[in-house]
Amino acid sequence: MISTFPRVKRWSYYEGFWYSTMFLEGIMSAQDHFIPQSTDIFITSCPKTGTTWLKSLTFAICTRSRLSGSSASALLTKMPHDCVPLLEHDLAQNPIKRDCAVPLVSTHVPYSCLPKSIISSGCKIIYICRDAKDAFVSFWYFIAELERSRNVQPLSLEEAFELFCNGISSYGPYWDHVLGYWRASLEFPEKILFLTYEEMKKDTAAHVKKLAEFMGCSFTLEEEEEGEVQKIISMCSFQKLSNLEVNKNGTHQADTPFAIKNSVFFRKGEIGDWANHLTPEMGARLDGIMEQKLKGSGLKLPR
Ligand code: A3P
Repeated sequence: MISTFPRVKRWSYYEGFWYSTMFLEGIMSAQDHFIPQSTDIFITSCPKTGTTWLKSLTFAICTRSRLSGSSASALLTKMPHDCVPLLEHDLAQNPIKRDCAVPLVSTHVPYSCLPKSIISSGCKIIYICRDAKDAFVSFWYFIAELERSRNVQPLSLEEAFELFCNGISSYGPYWDHVLGYWRASLEFPEKILFLTYEEMKKDTAAHVKKLAEFMGCSFTLEEEEEGEVQKIISMCSFQKLSNLEVNKNGTHQADTPFAIKNSVFFRKGEIGDWANHLTPEMGARLDGIMEQKLKGSGLKLPR
């Protein structure tokens, strides 16, 4: 059943989650029609949890062998979201249009709502999540920027926070999104890699190696000695990507109703920025909700 939330008219509730209505059609179409390739690797996340970074890293990792001599990574001229297609937007209606040489597909769709063809395919899935407070603040900035660019009055931080705490956010409830992939990763550990933004920040090198191994393209000893891991980390760093011309001045999905400035995907890239925006009481409330929702799951998100 689809229903819309009155205060946020462009969101719809479908199969237990809230979606931006502009993506819902694509999600339903993907559920019915999407057929993965056996080599596909799915980059999955709730919005604002580190998707752009994960896309960059996985893209850089799996295209590195194609780059030799003077050929530079597409990441230097295309924004990461234009390097890895989004299932619910780019592939739902156009399943044929894809660069088969790069086996990456991204999606924000919750685990329980993924097309059944993906679940039964045995394809690998990489999931990233993040402390709920930082994800919320990042999400609020993102939505406010979008609303302003479309001449819509953005929700206040307090209004959006109230909705978030009640499970109403893009692809939310946030906790159900995280829990779906967490439980699936426990059930299929060889198929689903569960990561957090905070751990990836803390030891990026170990994560880059782990990602490569999981994707089936481990670094050779020679590559490690040549500093390949470090090169990828530097190329995908917030500092590097956010200062590229394409990410400062480009437009993602130009000429479509989804057009959005590339720079919107790069804000601060820090852990704990929530404390500059939420009161300690708001922080404690969201921590309490997350603790209660994740209770018994074995998952404790870093804060
Ligand atoms: P902040 O808003 O806290 O700065 P997503 O990619 O899922 O939309 O998540 C966006 C968040 O990831 C933003 O967080 C953004 O700044 C951060 N981000 C984008 N690129 C990054 C990178 N290369 N390294 C670390 N964080 C990055």
